[in-house]
Amino acid sequence: MRKKVSIVGAGNVGGSVAQRLAETGITDIVLADVFDGIAQGKALDLAEAGPVVGYDCHITGATLPADYSLTADSDVVVFTSGAPRKPGMSRDDLLATNQKIVVDNVTEIVRHSPNCILVMVNNPLDAMAHLAFKTAGFPKSRVVGQAGVLDTARFRTFLAMELDVSVDSVQAYVLGGHGDDMVPLVSYTTVGGIPVSRLIPADRLASIVERTRKGGQEIVDLLKSGSAYQAPAAATAQMVTSMLLDRKSILPCSTYLEGEYGIHDLFVGVPCKLGAHGVEAVMQIDLAAEELDALHRTAESVRSLVHKLGL
Ligand code: 2OP
Repeated sequence: MRKKVSIVGAGNVGGSVAQRLAETGITDIVLADVFDGIAQGKALDLAEAGPVVGYDCHITGATLPADYSLTADSDVVVFTSGAPRKPGMSRDDLLATNQKIVVDNVTEIVRHSPNCILVMVNNPLDAMAHLAFKTAGFPKSRVVGQAGVLDTARFRTFLAMELDVSVDSVQAYVLGGHGDDMVPLVSYTTVGGIPVSRLIPADRLASIVERTRKGGQEIVDLLKSGSAYQAPAAATAQMVTSMLLDRKSILPCSTYLEGEYGIHDLFVGVPCKLGAHGVEAVMQIDLAAEELDALHRTAESVRSLVHKLGL
C-alpha cells in the first residue's frame, strides 16, 4: 500500500509541499485547510497535473475541522498552517497567533493518526515544534521541525553564487534555532572538499553568514505580502521523503535535545538521521568554542519563546 502524507494548511507552503511530494509518486496526499474549497481546488489541480507529469498518487482535499477523518492513518503529517510573516514582522511575532492553531490542529490530527510522524513548518519554528511535541504526547523521535535544511540551502546558494560554482559542490550546515541568531557552521563548510575559509576572504564570508541569517526576511521584503515557500517546501519534501523511504539521510532538523550539545529539553536545529521511525539519531559533531557558544545563545532565544508559551 502506498504511504500517506497529510498536509495541514493549503497555502503556498502546503500546496508546494503537496506538489513536490506528488512528483515523487511514493505517497498519497491529503491537503487540508480551514478555508473551504482551497484544499480541494489545489488537490484537484495537482491530480490533473498527474497525467502530464507522470504520477498517479491520490491527492485529496479536506476542509477542517469537518474532514479530519480524511487524514486518518497518515504516516507523516506536515503542519504548514498558521499566519506567515508580513514585512516588518519577525518570526517571533507569530507566536500567539499560531499557538492556538497548532494546539487545535495537532490535537485532532493525532487522534486520527496516532502513529504518525509530525513535521512542523509553522513559525516560530522551534517553539511550535515544542508545542506540538507537548500537545501530541508523542516520543521525541516522532516530532521534528523543518528549518535547518532551508537555512543550509540558503547558505549553500549564497556561497555558490559567490564562487560561481554549482550548489552541488557546496557542503554546509546551519544549526540552531530558525531565527536571526541561527548558526551557519563555517568550520564544516567545504566547496568541492576545500574548506570555504580558504576560498572566500573572512569579511565576505561574514557577510554571507549574515545574509543567510536574514534569508527569510530578504524574501518577505521582496514579496511584500507573504513569505518564502519554494525553498521551505523543497526542504520539507526532502525530510518527508527521507522518512517515507527510510533513507536515513543526515539533515539539519529541529529536534528535542536532552543534553546533546549541552542543551536540555528544547527543540533546536542539529544534524539528525531521518528514517522510517522519524528522528532516529542526533549526530554529535565537535564544534569550535565560538560555534558552541553561538548554538547556546540561539537555544536561549528559543527557550524564551517556549517560556512565553507557558511550557
Ligand atoms: C523562512 O525562513 C518562512 O521561516 C520561513 O522563509
